[in-house]
Amino acid sequence: MERTLSIIKPDGVSRGLVGEVIKRFEQNGIRIVAMKMLQMSKQQAQGFYAVHRDRPFFDSLTDFMSSGPIVAMVLEAEGVIGKNRTLMGATDYKEAAEGTIRRDFATDIEKNIVHGSDSPETAEFEINYFFNKFEFIN
Ligand code: RTP
Ligand code: MG
Repeated sequence: MERTLSIIKPDGVSRGLVGEVIKRFEQNGIRIVAMKMLQMSKQQAQGFYAVHRDRPFFDSLTDFMSSGPIVAMVLEAEGVIGKNRTLMGATDYKEAAEGTIRRDFATDIEKNIVHGSDSPETAEFEINYFFNKFEFIN
């Protein structure tokens, strides 16, 4: 069984899309095994997105990600890393497939509602960034 980290970003939470996103996970056979709501500091957001530190959008992205509460979840299913990326859609909502979360709700390349780990290595780093071993449901 694979695990991945999902985040409902500040735009998703402030626009009342938490239930909508979770519904899509539940309807697609994805199990939530850990979940919390929190607001990251700028520094926590910089640590989380450290792979992007040299990108031109890094400062704006980390401002946005620390601008309000997020919902962080650990999802579990077979092949859930790819499954979640498929449900999310492409980074740029204009290129995202019909029926994906980003195509349906994103308003901007940055404000794109959800984050999902993109490989087993990043999933492990990102899950451990938010959750400790006592916070999982078996
Ligand atoms: P994520 O990491 O949030 O799941 O998104 P992703 O893999 O689809 O995209 P990634 O390339 O990892 O970029 C991370 C987030 O940075 C913002 N972004 N802004 N202004 C821009 O050109 C730009 N490009 C990316 C988005 O919020 C993207 O999800
Ligand atoms: Mg990414």
